This record gives sequence, structure tokens and C-alpha cells, in this order.
Amino acid sequence: MASTARLKFDGITKTFPGVKALTDVSFEIAPGEVHALLGENGAGKSTLLRIMSGVARQTSGDFHVDGEIASFRDPDSARKAGIAMIHQELQQVPNLTVAQNMFLGHSLRRLGGMLVDRREQERRAAEALALIDPSIDPATPIKELKVAQRQVVEIARALLEKAKIVAMDEPTSSLTPSEFESLAAIIKKLTASGVTVIYVSHKMDEVFRICQRGTVMRDGKVVGTVNLREVAQADVIAMMVGRELMQEEHRSYATRAVKLQVENLSSKVSAVRDVSFQLHKGEVLGIAGLVGAGRTELLRLLAGVDPAAAGTIRVDDRPLNLAGPRSAIAAGIGLLPEERKREGIIPLRPVSMNMALPSLKKFARTGLVRHTAVRRTAEDLLKRVNLRPFQIDRPIKLFSGGNQQKAIIARWLAAGSDILLFDEPTRGIDVGAKSEIYHLIEQLASEGRSIIVVSSELPEVIRLSDRVLVIRNGRIAATLERHELSEQALVMHAVGDAGTTVHSSKQEHSNV
Ligand SMILES: Nc1ncnc2c1ncn2[C@@H]1O[C@H](COP(=O)(O)OP(=O)(O)OP(=O)(O)O)[C@@H](O)[C@H]1O
Ligand SMILES: [Mg+2]
Repeated sequence: MASTARLKFDGITKTFPGVKALTDVSFEIAPGEVHALLGENGAGKSTLLRIMSGVARQTSGDFHVDGEIASFRDPDSARKAGIAMIHQELQQVPNLTVAQNMFLGHSLRRLGGMLVDRREQERRAAEALALIDPSIDPATPIKELKVAQRQVVEIARALLEKAKIVAMDEPTSSLTPSEFESLAAIIKKLTASGVTVIYVSHKMDEVFRICQRGTVMRDGKVVGTVNLREVAQADVIAMMVGRELMQEEHRSYATRAVKLQVENLSSKVSAVRDVSFQLHKGEVLGIAGLVGAGRTELLRLLAGVDPAAAGTIRVDDRPLNLAGPRSAIAAGIGLLPEERKREGIIPLRPVSMNMALPSLKKFARTGLVRHTAVRRTAEDLLKRVNLRPFQIDRPIKLFSGGNQQKAIIARWLAAGSDILLFDEPTRGIDVGAKSEIYHLIEQLASEGRSIIVVSSELPEVIRLSDRVLVIRNGRIAATLERHELSEQALVMHAVGDAGTTVHSSKQEHSNV
């Protein structure tokens, strides 16, 4: 690079006990560039960003910002040097308002520093939010927002800090396509004013759309930096996974035996209304629809997490008691929820123990958990989901985001459910591991289990499903058979208007 690099990594190495997360990482990023950081789960992307933003310290090596060697004691000094980071796992305080969260650690003061200037904070927060999603009120407690909106708040926070380097660690993992469009527009504005963006995502289409160059990492090492305008997606993926990925065809194991029968089901707490369908043994049923259409809410209703107002659910022709989750669990219904954080992870306990949590009873004899049984099952299942590194005694907290997700999938396999409800099963999972999870879902179907998959990624719904229910405004808008599946058909039914392709994010959020 001719001019001074905005950011230059020079031989960064980071070791954790038993793991070398980064080895001799060197590359440069230019001012105003949108630079992708690519690699499989556990490749070291988040670790590099954490070092850059003062959250962690490198073991050796240096990095330079605008030609000057940088050394940050803590995130605050990185922020003062103009580096903002949007973390993979949002670090917000649920009970504080949007504005308070945005000014966390550097609140605006008045009366000589005696009082927090709430008004001014809210005014500036609103200004930053107006650029992305004006429907978010700065005075709302963070806990009342949806995941997507909380992510928007984080991005607005970086805008507010007027950072010159903004690192985004999987910022769109829970955004809708139209929210991604507004983010892409914001990133464009940012870079036009000279801001450098580092973008981490497993969504290759997005990466190719908004990034100019990308650095590919594998096992903590840089494989290479490529110009994304000049390489094919398949080649970049091959660099990431170290082999060619085969595109596999859909396989169906659906039988005619009805496993689950839902009739006129309505929710007491959400917009889900009058839903009727059947799920067969060995079938993979996809659920598509816009964010807020009621997909997650439908799964919660089936799992007994949300109470029903009316209707019936029958499993193997026996009616479920709809009073709570117990009867659903006893009938073999398992829910893999959308948000793994709420999932009751015990961060410092081994991944094997975390995996076994909900099914401990199965492992317990005379009240004692049989550790060897836990280990054996954990080993087997964590191998099936390809946990990496394969160290089942390691605390779950130390695994990369995608690998924690794999452990939670294994958890539901351990519980031995016959009916598995997956809500966004591959969120945050890399392309290689994604196809492993598709395989796993197919394998479960071939074993005679019945599966419902909610996914916002249309190619994923199409790849996996024998049949798809499209949900709109809490109701089933269409049922599409395998041969009718296409992205276009799914979008059309989800939006509910054959002529419409544009839909504002506001509409999606209205939660009907
Ligand atoms: N605090 C820690 N202690 C020990 N090991 C860690 C710690 N943080 C990360 N690691 C390890 O460092 C490696 C890189 O992890 P990192 O989170 O950077 O991956 P990633 O590329 O961001 O993956 P993902 O796509 O899943 O988010 C992994 O093997 C992970 O287990
Ligand atoms: Mg990560």
C-alpha cells in the first residue's frame, strides 16, 4: 500500500492456556476501506478484534493505527483513539435505557459533573438513531427491544463516538434483509467520510456486497488477503475451510405417519392465530416469514413456553395439556431457542456439563449425576456437531460464538426429543459447519424424528425443508410443497403482495 495504512497488524500472536488463538497475524487495512475478516468458527476473528479494541492483550506482535504503534490498556483508551467495536455478544445493561447504554462509561454531565445530562444524552442518541432506525425511542429500557433493535443501538453508539475505525463482529446475524440494506447504506456513508470498517460475517453474500477486500484466517493464521471484486465466492470459501465444499442436494425422509397435529391454535400472549397443520414422522417442515410475523412465537406455543388461548395439539394422536411446557417436554418436544444467551448457559462450567444440563435426570442415578455417562454422551454428541477445539472439559465461555451454538444443538440431541423445533439453527455458524448442521438435521430426520426449522435465510429453508409454512401476521399465509419452493415464492407470500418487493423495517418491527 502506497499511503500509510489506517491499521496495520504486525506479527500478532495470542496464546490462551492450551490454545494458540492467533499466530503471527500480519496484514494492512487502508483508510475508508470496508475490510472483511473471514474464517470458520474459532479461526480467531473475534480475538483479533478484541486485541485491537483494548479488550484483550496480544502475547506478542504489534499493531499500528495511522502509522503509530498502538497500545491500549483498556477498551476506553481504544475508544479515545477512535476505535469502536460492536461485539458479537451484545454487552448491554438490560435495565438501562437506550440512551444510557449508548453513553455507558462516558455519560454526559452537567452542573460541573454532578448530574448526568439525561436530556442531552437522549437528544444525541436520537440523532444517531435517526440515521438507522428512527422508530427506536432513546428513553426505552434496552430489555424491551428485540435483538435486531438492540444491535441497531450498538451501531448507533459507534456512530455517536465518531470512531475512525469501526469493527463489526457479526452485526447482521439477527437483522432482516431490509435492516441489512440500511446498515449497508450507513457503512457507505461512514466510509465516504474516511472511516474504516472491519466487517466480520458468515454471510458471504453480504460480505461480497459491501466489502472491497478481505483477509481470510484459518486456525489463527492469515491464509491471505484478497480483492473481493476479483475472486469467486467459492474460492474464498475454499480458503476458509481448506477444501472445496460440495453443494449437496436436499434429501427427504418424510413418511405419511402423522406425528404432530395442530388444530386452530391461538396464542394468549402473541399474534399467533388459528394455526392448523400436520407434521409427519421424518419430515423437515420449514417456517418462513418476516421478522415479527410470529415464527418464533409459533415455536414457543408448540413447546408450551407461551400459553395457548385456544386450539389443540396432538402428539401421536394424544392431546397435549396446553397449560405449560411440561406436557410438551414429556411428549418429546424440544425447542432450540433463537437466543442462546437466555438459554441458561453456565459460562465457567465445562462444555460437556452445559450440554447435559436439561437432561441431567437421564444421567442421574440415586440423585447423583453419573459423570462417566455424561462424558460418554457429551463426547459422542459434541463430535457429531464437530465442536472445535474438541476439548469437552473446557469451560463453555472459552469457545468461539459458533462453537457455543454447536454445543447447544448437541444439548437438544442429548435430551432425546422426537420432535425438534429449531429457531435459526445456524445463526453465527460458518459455511463449513453449516453444511455439517444440515447433514445432522437430515440424519435426525432419517432416524424418524420430526423437525420444524425457522430460518430467515431463504436458501437454508429451501435446502432443508420438505414443506414450508409461510407465516404472516401470526397466521399461515401459505403452505408450499417441495417443488413449489423458490426464494421468490417465499418472499411473495411472506410480504403478502405479489407486486411488492420493498418493505420498510418499521413494518417488520410492528410485531402485528
Ligand atoms: N478467553 C479465552 N480463553 C481461552 N481460549 C479462548 C478465549 N477466547 C477465545 N479462545 C479461543 O481462541 C480461538 C479463536 O476464537 P475466536 O472467538 O477469536 O474465534 P472466531 O473466529 O471469532 O469464531 P466465531 O466465528 O465462532 O465467532 C478459539 O479456539 C477459542 O476457543
Ligand atoms: Mg467470533
